[in-house]
Amino acid sequence: MSTRDPAETDTLTPTAPLEGTATTVGRGGDWWRTAVIYQVYPRSFADHDGDGVGDLPGITSRLDALGELGVDAVWLSPFYTSPQRDAGYDVADYRDVDPLFGTLADFDALRARATELGLRVIVDVVPNHTSSDHAWFREALASAPGSPARGRYLFRDGRGPDGDLPPNNWQSIFGGPAWSRVTEADGRPGQWYLHLFDSSQPDLDWTNRRVRDEFVDVLRFWLDRGVDGFRVDVAHGMIKAEGLPDYTPPADSGSMGGGQGESAPPPYWGQEGVHEIYREWNAVLAGYPGDRVLVAEAWVEPLSRLADWVRPDEMHQAFNFAYLETGWSAPAVRQVVDASIETFSSVGAPSTWVLSNHDVVRHASRLALTAENPQGHGIGPASEGLPVPELGLARARAASTLMLALPGSAYIYQGEELGLPEAIDLPDESRQDPTWFRTGGERYGRDGCRVPLPWSATEPAFGFNATGASWLPQPADWSTYARDEQRGVAGSTLELYTRALRLRADHELGAGTLTWLDGFGPDVVAFRNQGVTVVTNMGEVPVELPVAEVLLATMVVDGPALPPNATVWLAATA
Ligand code: GLC
Repeated sequence: MSTRDPAETDTLTPTAPLEGTATTVGRGGDWWRTAVIYQVYPRSFADHDGDGVGDLPGITSRLDALGELGVDAVWLSPFYTSPQRDAGYDVADYRDVDPLFGTLADFDALRARATELGLRVIVDVVPNHTSSDHAWFREALASAPGSPARGRYLFRDGRGPDGDLPPNNWQSIFGGPAWSRVTEADGRPGQWYLHLFDSSQPDLDWTNRRVRDEFVDVLRFWLDRGVDGFRVDVAHGMIKAEGLPDYTPPADSGSMGGGQGESAPPPYWGQEGVHEIYREWNAVLAGYPGDRVLVAEAWVEPLSRLADWVRPDEMHQAFNFAYLETGWSAPAVRQVVDASIETFSSVGAPSTWVLSNHDVVRHASRLALTAENPQGHGIGPASEGLPVPELGLARARAASTLMLALPGSAYIYQGEELGLPEAIDLPDESRQDPTWFRTGGERYGRDGCRVPLPWSATEPAFGFNATGASWLPQPADWSTYARDEQRGVAGSTLELYTRALRLRADHELGAGTLTWLDGFGPDVVAFRNQGVTVVTNMGEVPVELPVAEVLLATMVVDGPALPPNATVWLAATA
């Protein structure tokens, strides 16, 4: 199929290439600069033992599907020993696998299979807090105020005459106060400890050298086991401002942010002191063969501040949440892409792109929401502005193919390649996110993006396992999203992703340079990267396309017009 030749039309005017957009400058052409990294959420990927929670053998048994999809690496969310109060982001033993997920031998088997398939493996490290079940915290509880064991965490005396008021006014990201009071050995109410998240996730004191040494050792443990890197959880939170001053975040800030755009960050996010930690970690990784990477989960704005996390001697990548949080608006997308490329390349780092993960409303729903929904709040049956599913899916397909054409590195969250929407109608009694409990059901939280994957339309639990058990119920209509319903089916979302990834690799788009194309009007994002012209119509009327071979389209492009909520990749002829 072809439309008008771009060379023949004045609607397609390349602007000058962006300064500094080369993504291969600096630390060599390392794999991660252009990689597509697939996030596996172990609880929900594939369940080998049939208990309703996914596991490592399940992942191993299904890794072929990711090789077939054409990603470069997988990032595994936590599978470590944990009471699972925050779905594994509450780690009780950083050097072992929770029996729920398997054993260390199962991890080794997964690693080996990934290598056979040419997939790199990144694991999560959760350094801001441990689980309250961690041996260190148990020891701290059994020890006296002022003891070295308490000094690994942030224990403080309470305010007020009896110390019965929390040490400051900080609120937990999941709702409620960020402090809990302990009972001392003599049975009396005692000190308070800080937990920015759930009360089962006490924050560590990263000014303590013992804490730092422990995590260097944890990194080495997994590096020795052959991991290619780490996604660093809450990488903006480990150092708190001196004196732990009171702070009230702006009312409309998402759960993980707060203080966006302010000159001074909140006293618990983005403190200068975090950077020396990453410099130390960078040196640890550099001591290992191969290109091992650190990826920051840092909800820091603006992007210019986030760039500090990826300076040459710190982390290698940071998730681009500014991009994720950009709505369905062409001017806004152009602006954030420009700002990202400019900012990350100013420190020699690749831009990264991400649209979904286990903490946000899936983009097949989010992009069609008609009411504000700050990160972490989630959506449920009583939410306002719920999406029209067909519109959400169309936009998701358009947004994903736009993203996969950008230079740099991209992240895919499991299930988005199937077009999965957020599970909105989860019964209240099935919800598990601490956000739901700590806000008394006021916020639905993140369960809706964590529902186990559908592999097969007809099997129990849609092929997630053989028993039909599922830790969160799967919506009945998910048979239509099942992988086996989509595999090899022209026009399916799975085939769209597979084709986009193949073309991305063939044209080396990750290593390319973006040049904006003007002339399509304000509601269109259009650019050229390597030999590919990408056009996304975010407006409400069809857009005339230049004549060119269609490489990929998210909707049937019939004739010379691109419908609204669609993306097309054209072979650039000029
Ligand atoms: C990160 C994780 C999230 C978790 C939180 C606390 O934001 O992505 O799932 O709840 O940290 O560890």
